[in-house]
Amino acid sequence: MRIVCLISGGGSNLQSIIDAERRGELGLAHLIGVISNNPDAPGLIRATSACIPTHVLSHLSYSCREAFEFDLTRIIDEFHPDLLVLAGFMQILTKTFVDHYQGRIINIHPSLLPKYKGLDTHQRAINAGDKLAGASIHWVTTELDAGEVIRQVTVPIFSNDTAETLKLRVLQAEHRLYPEVIRDLAKDFITS
Ligand code: GRF
Repeated sequence: MRIVCLISGGGSNLQSIIDAERRGELGLAHLIGVISNNPDAPGLIRATSACIPTHVLSHLSYSCREAFEFDLTRIIDEFHPDLLVLAGFMQILTKTFVDHYQGRIINIHPSLLPKYKGLDTHQRAINAGDKLAGASIHWVTTELDAGEVIRQVTVPIFSNDTAETLKLRVLQAEHRLYPEVIRDLAKDFITS
């Protein structure tokens, strides 16, 4: 199963996928490309260090989202991916884009969906007095962070947590979860 990863920033989830594949833990999934809308995304360095082809397409060069996505789609499709993996890709996607890849895009979101869609998830969980936080991997649909959840991981929230300490704990859990889900999806993909 050919996977392309879309990033905008640090790429620590991307790194967990790269490391899992290197350890032979990604099963039949193969990371064939990384695309970033941010030319300065540290995740690009992670990809090039692992000899994975990268592409940068800055949304800032476009006056409208549709034109950006038109070119993004062209670049993605050159890789002929079976699965698009959003890993901190900070762009709202239009219906046209999502429909084009329907059933082939997944995202990781740092909350226990359906709680805390959108941004600032860790602070919102702390403010609400939650005892548990976590991350969700879900299919991407036109509604933000609302597609069917594939799998979640939970972590505790401690009374002295800040958004930063909680974010780190959730991220560590994300790094275990994403490669596992990709491996399982690849198994289903190959046998279907
Ligand atoms: C993660 O918290 C992920 O849940 C969210 O964006 C962040 C990406 O972090 N979608 P990184 O770039 O993988 O380090």
